[in-house]
Amino acid sequence: MPKYKIAWLHGDGIGVDVLEAAKIVLDKIALDAEYIPGDIGWEFWCSEGDALPLRTIELLKKVDAALFGAITSKPAKAAQAELAPKLQNNGHVYRSPIVRLRQEFDLYTCLRPCKAYPGNPLNFKEEIDLVVFRENTEDLYAGVEFSPVPGELAQLLSKLARPFAPFSQVPPDRYAISCKINSWTGSERIIRAAFEFARKQKRRKVTIVHKANVVRATDGLFLEAGKKVAAQFPEIQMDEANIDAMTMWLLKNPFNYDVLVAPNLYGDIISDLCAQMVGGLGFGCSANIGDKLGVFEPTHGSAPKYAGQYKVNPIATILAAKMMLEWLGETKKASVLESAVAKVIQEGRVRTYDMGGTNSTLEMAQAIAGKL
Ligand code: NAI
Ligand code: MG
Repeated sequence: MPKYKIAWLHGDGIGVDVLEAAKIVLDKIALDAEYIPGDIGWEFWCSEGDALPLRTIELLKKVDAALFGAITSKPAKAAQAELAPKLQNNGHVYRSPIVRLRQEFDLYTCLRPCKAYPGNPLNFKEEIDLVVFRENTEDLYAGVEFSPVPGELAQLLSKLARPFAPFSQVPPDRYAISCKINSWTGSERIIRAAFEFARKQKRRKVTIVHKANVVRATDGLFLEAGKKVAAQFPEIQMDEANIDAMTMWLLKNPFNYDVLVAPNLYGDIISDLCAQMVGGLGFGCSANIGDKLGVFEPTHGSAPKYAGQYKVNPIATILAAKMMLEWLGETKKASVLESAVAKVIQEGRVRTYDMGGTNSTLEMAQAIAGKL
């Protein structure tokens, strides 16, 4: 029996291309694993009204980890009319399958390392080595949203004597509400994960990202939880910054930062910014980690215009596979794989289009496999 069971969730579009590339590398590194395909994505929303079918959730309960490609989301309202005949999901409410996965399995840590590998022509600056910890289950992604606003809630809000809440004058179908929900437990555990990582990796500093001067209740709580956790890690410098200033300072001097920890939405934003500094979507990798399961993925989406063309860069996914190896405890294999990626980037002989080259997705994977 193989040592590991890995759910193999390619999803839509280029998810298929990049997972095929990752398989070339994992086979070469001889991970003792069984890869079990699972259904996820737009196709399953269209055919059965569920982008994350129950059988996939059952599969994920039985595996050690999952590698996930990307999904195509449900298009915005305007584009739906032409799709209607295809849909057989009457009455079902669409929710992003990846957000659901994170919540269903309580994958509360979203870990996004952003490292500039020497020789990458897309590096903003050499030697950037940032790690983003993004809270992954709550905040504005809690899924508590109202559009239109129900009468009872509108009535309750109309009683608030706030100058910026003219709820009594606005019809309930002319505004919408998305709730930002942050718990003490949710905040504390992601911040603790960031500090524990910093301790283990001998990193010097953790920056707590927030907007507590304005969003006082939720971000205030996040920052307070951060200060409590930081006190237990005296050897690590604690720093804090407002999300808006943070984006500016990150660009101005990325070397002032090390580990960053943020609530869900701010974490999403700064991790894209950090990913762009080290090569963009072809390099951004991500781990969604809970106490029992880890789901590893590139941060990019399904890029429909490149689907099936084997043109996009598989490095993000291969680095996600490297994170999966680390999480499984296969640290030797993980570091060998990372060195192979670094060598191919440094040599610069094989490059996909985003790096200014003409090589295909699979040629890039084969070049990396060739260094293992
Ligand atoms: P996207 O990330 O799929 O692609 C945007 C552009 O980035 C592409 O057209 C391509 O030029 C470039 N790109 C993406 N991946 C690349 C790679 N590996 N190598 C080189 N270039 C790459 O974002 P887009 O087009 O906004 O979204 C497409 C679909 O994906 C949407 O339905 C969106 O909702 C979904 N999406 C899914 C995500 C997920 O599965 N986790 C994350 C982000 C978007
Ligand atoms: Mg994102």
